[in-house]
Amino acid sequence: MTCPALDLLPPLLRDSFARLPALSLGNWPTPLEPCPRLAAAIGVQSLWIKRDDQSGPALGGNKVRHLEYTLAEALAQRAQAVLIAVGEQSNHARQMAALARKVGLLPIVIVNQPAAPPLLRGNLLLVALTGADIRYLVADDYEKGLERRCDEVVDEYARQKLHVYRIRPDRSQVLGAAAGLRALLELKSQVDAAGLDPDAVVLSAANGSQAGMVLACRAIGWALPIRGVAPVLWKEPLHERTARFGNLLAQELGWPLRLEAAEILNDLSQIGAGYQCPTAASLEAVRLAAVTEGIFLDPNYTGKALAGLIADLASGAVSRQSTILFWHTGGVPALFSADQQITDHLHAHF
Ligand SMILES: Cc1ncc(COP(=O)(O)O)c(C=O)c1O
Repeated sequence: MTCPALDLLPPLLRDSFARLPALSLGNWPTPLEPCPRLAAAIGVQSLWIKRDDQSGPALGGNKVRHLEYTLAEALAQRAQAVLIAVGEQSNHARQMAALARKVGLLPIVIVNQPAAPPLLRGNLLLVALTGADIRYLVADDYEKGLERRCDEVVDEYARQKLHVYRIRPDRSQVLGAAAGLRALLELKSQVDAAGLDPDAVVLSAANGSQAGMVLACRAIGWALPIRGVAPVLWKEPLHERTARFGNLLAQELGWPLRLEAAEILNDLSQIGAGYQCPTAASLEAVRLAAVTEGIFLDPNYTGKALAGLIADLASGAVSRQSTILFWHTGGVPALFSADQQITDHLHAHF
């Protein structure tokens, strides 16, 4: 794909990256905006926000970048449908379902729970609106259950002579790294144009995006710390997993670069009770961003990321004299599935 920010790469790296098949689905570049009121509220000298929540279709989010690669691969493989297996409030599923429709593919979403909730809310409501084929899990073993169910559904479609492209976690994260790589180059162009000299990026990260960002920094020689605040824990240690996806992408592109797990910055302190469980700190971060800047975060990803930054400023891990780029990765529809927790949090405040 052509993208002016790719010119930041050395020519050999740029040429191999540009050959990676990608569709053009989002509105790029997403805005980079100053947040002086939020900066004052959390006590940091300068805070900017990268608005991937405004990436365009399907109510935005970082997965639009990611799906430009995934859906290009699905179309190249002549798929008629795309399958993803995820949790009920998956942003990825919502964006996949809408963008699959946009490019003429049938979305299939396997939800990792035994039955439909009595009320469709947030992301799942939007998935249902696209007319996606939504299935629920019967087995209780997360990994084996999902795998088995995916195979069955793919076979079922194959019997109708329909080819299903399956979004497999590992492949998907390598493509997510490609998306993160391009996103970082986009940010670098904006930072240069604005004359900014940031000290760090802070974002919600569990997978490929951070890997691609770190790889991009290495490729262009930018010593910018990318601080990933984890929304989830995997069996594999997150810094190893992140480096692995970055290295798989570098290998695929033929880049002579290798990430070390030790250079990946992960903050595991904000996960709370688990994946997609809002914490008091994330709910408060969501409130603070809305009260100060009129910006809506979500309690599972971006709220936890901002809570991580607030904690790091309080502990001194991040200097209050810094210029921070906070990456809004989207996820806002999940607000409408956490309505009870948000209501309780607001009532406790006022
Ligand atoms: C809103 C939001 N932010 C951040 C992330 C993490 O992105 P990645 O999986 O590329 O680390 C996700 C992933 O689903 C997300 O939905």
